Amino acid sequence: MATAGTATRNVVIQRLTDSRLFDQVSDVILRCFCEPGGEPVNDILGITSSDFQHMIGASVSPMYQEGACFVAMDIGTGRVAGAVVGGDMVPLPGRSSEDPSVFDLGKLRDPMDLIEAVEGIYLPKRGLAPGNPTRRRGVVFHHWMFVVHPDYRGQRLLERLLVAQLGWAKTAGYLYSVAECTSRYSWASMQRLGAVEQARINYATWRNRDGVLSLAGIPPPHTACVCAEVDLVGWKAPVER
Ligand SMILES: CC(C)(COP(=O)(O)OP(=O)(O)OC[C@H]1O[C@@H](n2cnc3c(N)ncnc32)[C@H](O)[C@@H]1OP(=O)(O)O)[C@@H](O)C(=O)NCCC(=O)NCCS
Repeated sequence: MATAGTATRNVVIQRLTDSRLFDQVSDVILRCFCEPGGEPVNDILGITSSDFQHMIGASVSPMYQEGACFVAMDIGTGRVAGAVVGGDMVPLPGRSSEDPSVFDLGKLRDPMDLIEAVEGIYLPKRGLAPGNPTRRRGVVFHHWMFVVHPDYRGQRLLERLLVAQLGWAKTAGYLYSVAECTSRYSWASMQRLGAVEQARINYATWRNRDGVLSLAGIPPPHTACVCAEVDLVGWKAPVER
């Protein structure tokens, strides 16, 4: 494991534009979302990297192309230390779980239903509900996945990545930026950057489409999927200490 001070000093945040890094970023996402003790929802459901792999191809890789993803690079080793993946909240046609033809969800059905349930509360507030004929791109930026490699955790690296991505989204003209935080840690990072809770689904009481409390065993500190929104119009990047 990298020592805290050294790792922090050597890590720079940059926009993910170099396609040679895409595979390395995908590997870190797969690890963080599928390892035991990683992302809480996948963890309790026992989702493995082979279950999750098609999510990378169908949903994550197209976001790399949108140019709104950021990566934390360890310049000492050339390793990817973390990444934030995101894009417009309103997907391009054929790029969404709203379109069942895009991919067979398999074991990812519960996580995607959970996200859709949270978004079902949030999106109408911003006039972006699926099927709304006036919904348009360019209003809400969507932070889709957050990962920090285990060797670099606990140093607020996610926060540094988010500051870069929020700044980019504001400059691009977005009014709001939103994340469905399944981890207490991502929700805490968003809160420190000024996010406000817009919707919440508690793991103890959420039932999947078979009526099963499939997420009730998620251990603390993770208790809920929280839809966290930053109002970008008034948002300013915190001054680096
Ligand atoms: C969520 C995640 C991106 C946070 O990254 P991070 O930059 O390390 O976040 P922070 O530095 O704010 O640390 C968060 C907590 O991690 C814990 N932590 C510290 N060192 C750690 C380590 N070596 N390993 C695991 N967790 C550690 C700390 O308890 C810290 O909590 P605290 O703020 O109460 O001290 C990262 O934990 C991760 O990749 N998790 C797996 C994927 C995931 O859940 N993504 C979010 C889904 S919305």
